[in-house]
Amino acid sequence: MRFFIDTANLEQIKEAQELGVLDGVTTNPSLMAKEGIKGDAAINEHYKKICDIVDGDVSAEVFGTEYDDMIRQGEELAALHPQITIKLPCTKDGIRAVKYFSEKGVKTNCTLVFTVGQALLAAKAGATYVSPFVGRLDDISSNGVALIKEIVDVFNYYGYQTQVLAASIRHTQHIIDCMKAGADVATCPLKAILGLLNHPLTDKGVEIFVADAKKMEG
Ligand code: G3P
Repeated sequence: MRFFIDTANLEQIKEAQELGVLDGVTTNPSLMAKEGIKGDAAINEHYKKICDIVDGDVSAEVFGTEYDDMIRQGEELAALHPQITIKLPCTKDGIRAVKYFSEKGVKTNCTLVFTVGQALLAAKAGATYVSPFVGRLDDISSNGVALIKEIVDVFNYYGYQTQVLAASIRHTQHIIDCMKAGADVATCPLKAILGLLNHPLTDKGVEIFVADAKKMEG
């Protein structure tokens, strides 16, 4: 399973990249706004900075809700850098825009997916990635990981090439559960990725080895 980091924070992206396990980045308007970025020029510049840090795909979301705006913004974002993937909402206009960009060979990430039916439409439109929101489903007492499994099974059965990108990951256990459910990618906060390292026996073991290594100092 590949790891994307779900943030627009350059320091966190650098930290994940330095760990050597990062395969890409996803952003959304909320994450970009959190970084205090204002205006088209600053937004575009920020995406370019992210692309300079990582090697993989960088999802940049369109802000418009109408088809024509999505196409205009998507074309502008795609022209910024070859690593840019156009992120589009799973709405009627969004699906039309996914189809438009996929026919042009531009990578797309169909976002805000909450049902297997939405995932099916995104795959049929040729999306590179489909982003089911695990945490937001759990928030309303639904089962986000079960949806990941359902979509993975349907895509495998019919041979869709669209990759299942588990999004709205909130913690380490979500990552593990999405991996077991067969997600192609999980986009995660840095804290959840680092959480995978946590084990008291690892910490204790390092402590013992360091102490014993000292005994061998000449
Ligand atoms: O990738 C989508 C993600 O950013 C949404 O996460 O925590 O706002 O539901 P969250």
